[in-house]
Amino acid sequence: MLDNFLFIGFPYIALALAVVVGVYRYVADRFSYSSLSTQFLENKQLFWGSVPWHYGITLILLAHLTAFFIPNIHLAVLGGYLRTVVLEVTGWALSFYALFGLLVLAVRRLSISRVSVTSNLADWLLLISLIVQVGLGVYLAIFYRWGGLWFTKTAAGWLWSLLTLRPDISYIQSMPWAVKLHFFFAFVVILLFPFTRLVHVFTIPITYIWRPYQVVIWSRK
Ligand code: HEM
Repeated sequence: MLDNFLFIGFPYIALALAVVVGVYRYVADRFSYSSLSTQFLENKQLFWGSVPWHYGITLILLAHLTAFFIPNIHLAVLGGYLRTVVLEVTGWALSFYALFGLLVLAVRRLSISRVSVTSNLADWLLLISLIVQVGLGVYLAIFYRWGGLWFTKTAAGWLWSLLTLRPDISYIQSMPWAVKLHFFFAFVVILLFPFTRLVHVFTIPITYIWRPYQVVIWSRK
């Protein structure tokens, strides 16, 4: 019963809210679609937090996506024993890199008063959820090895069953609690997406590369 709610009901609620509220916010308050950068309040710690976090998590999430969307290629890349070990260790390094960045961002938000006074409940909920989610990911990677292999036979089946509207939790039902918690928290992050500065992942800031510097002015009600 609880499993049905956590791994069927909750994911659908989170996804539905992410889409509906996300679109509504884009239409009703387009200027709020931003990371609400605090770079002009503090820059040095932001650099040491933001760079490791973004490079680390982008590559880790790309690996999640390849395991889900193109499992045959993903498994072929993992190939034999040596390649699996090398990629597993690379995953650890990237996830520690991302976690380090995230913790720097949390300490910065707590300790720099100009940043902490401009932080709201949503900022804290998002930061704490990301720390829990990435912490659980690191835990899985270390204590339930070879996730790159077992993901394709377990989590991928469950996610596809959700996507095709034929939910089936038998793929993941007997998995250890830490693994299930990581799956559940993924949807907590999705739920938080439209209510937080996480919406900035859809602003695709490609033009940052060539546009001149700018002064960031918040537009918050
Ligand atoms: C339902 C969605 C998700 C599923 C099914 C899933 C599944 C997994 C699995 C099976 C592993 C173990 C990989 C290994 O042993 O190398 C893992 C690791 C990890 N996950 Fe997720 N995950 C999901 C969403 C997320 C999200 C949203 C984040 C971050 C925001 C995240 C961050 C991580 C991290 C940092 C690791 C450690 C990677 C490593 O060291 O190799 N995951 N995930």
